[in-house]
Amino acid sequence: MNILVIGNGGREHALAWKIRQSPLCEKIFVAPGNAGTASIAENVAIDVDDFAALGKFCIANNVQLVVVGPEGPLVKGIRDYFQNDPSLRPILMVGPDTQGAQLEGSKDFSKKFMLRHNIPTAKARTFSASDLDQAFDYISSCKPPIVLKADGLAAGKGVIISLSQGEAKAVVKEMLINKRFGQASAKVLIEEFLNGIELSVFVLTDGKDYVILPEAKDYKRIGEGDLGPNTGGMGAVSPVVFADAAFMKRIEEEVVKPTIAGLIHEGIDYKGFIFVGIMNVGGNPFVIEYNARMGDPETQAVMPRIKSDLVELLVASAKGEMKGKQIEIDEHHAVTIALVSGGYPGDYEKGKVIRGLEKDGKALVFHAGTKKHGEGILTDGGRVLAVSGKGNSLNEAREQAYQTAAHIEWDGLYYRKDIGQDLMNYKG
Ligand code: AMP
Ligand code: GLY
Repeated sequence: MNILVIGNGGREHALAWKIRQSPLCEKIFVAPGNAGTASIAENVAIDVDDFAALGKFCIANNVQLVVVGPEGPLVKGIRDYFQNDPSLRPILMVGPDTQGAQLEGSKDFSKKFMLRHNIPTAKARTFSASDLDQAFDYISSCKPPIVLKADGLAAGKGVIISLSQGEAKAVVKEMLINKRFGQASAKVLIEEFLNGIELSVFVLTDGKDYVILPEAKDYKRIGEGDLGPNTGGMGAVSPVVFADAAFMKRIEEEVVKPTIAGLIHEGIDYKGFIFVGIMNVGGNPFVIEYNARMGDPETQAVMPRIKSDLVELLVASAKGEMKGKQIEIDEHHAVTIALVSGGYPGDYEKGKVIRGLEKDGKALVFHAGTKKHGEGILTDGGRVLAVSGKGNSLNEAREQAYQTAAHIEWDGLYYRKDIGQDLMNYKG
């Protein structure tokens, strides 16, 4: 079948890489893609939010399966658009409709969903601009650190952790009154701080049955030792040492099953990925957030560990035929390092020539923010490449990833040298 992947990041390059290995895949397109996807698929110059043009492209090119990478088009209703058009309706799609995408698109919705279905999560209350005084009173009753979350999508920047009540009040005012995140902070959640270690869990579902993909740990801060500002993600490892079979079983029973049951109960026909952000608090799983998609850069560590035919699973999810499906997972370890532009996550320059890509490193090199320029490849974003090493141990996978990363250069290149280091000698 012909398959279209929507998005232009490292996640989409890794998805396309895995999809292309399937005997079920005839042609693969990526819209809009990057220089990496161009080497394994046909890039299509259509914006991820241009549903009409994407629809026309699918018809013209006999696309039978669409895999939506990022959250934006899901929250804006790409599935609803395809469902509402009789000529597009038969096209299979991995990704929920607007109702399902609310799990990510509204933190107020997802918090209430978790509470309705007894899914363990941090206590929180939601306030809007008209209840600023109540928000201040509530903050006065909270013990710092205090977590403040913009309700809507804020490009991963909408969560602020305040170390004092005074700072929390100033931040809440900034968000609600000064609209720091625009409409996304028209509502703000004030949430209890969970002290623990994070884990990303990925579920592929048809709304009734599901498979759980390999778990991963993401490294969000720009600096080594988890210091400095948050980024889209500076690296990932899979598997995660503390996510042993017993802990994963608890997540399945206490989080995954009630989430799927909750979706069914609420009449939400969810077909796609659910990325559950878990905090392990003293051995107990709590949900920090849901995302309606795969993680980036986690996908770049997860895909190399899936042995099964991904297309078969994607089709099963989109068709509602997940029952009885299983996923085979490789025992190897994977470590992904994000190579970023100098200055990221703040201001950075684009258009730097990337050197060393042709050197034969052992690790996989997924592109994120890159574009072709003549024979060369230029940086074209904050996160530029994701290098994924594999090995029999975490250490081997790290070494492979860092050896390949060391071949690559551009003016201003930065990456963390400590991805996975905290897990090397992890003791609960
Ligand atoms: P989110 O945008 O929901 O992924 O939140 C961004 C990051 O903020 C998470 O990955 C956590 O590191 C942190 N965070 C979110 N909620 C909490 C919480 N209740 N307690 C502690 N950290 C949190
Ligand atoms: N790596 C975190 C995310 O994709 O949201």
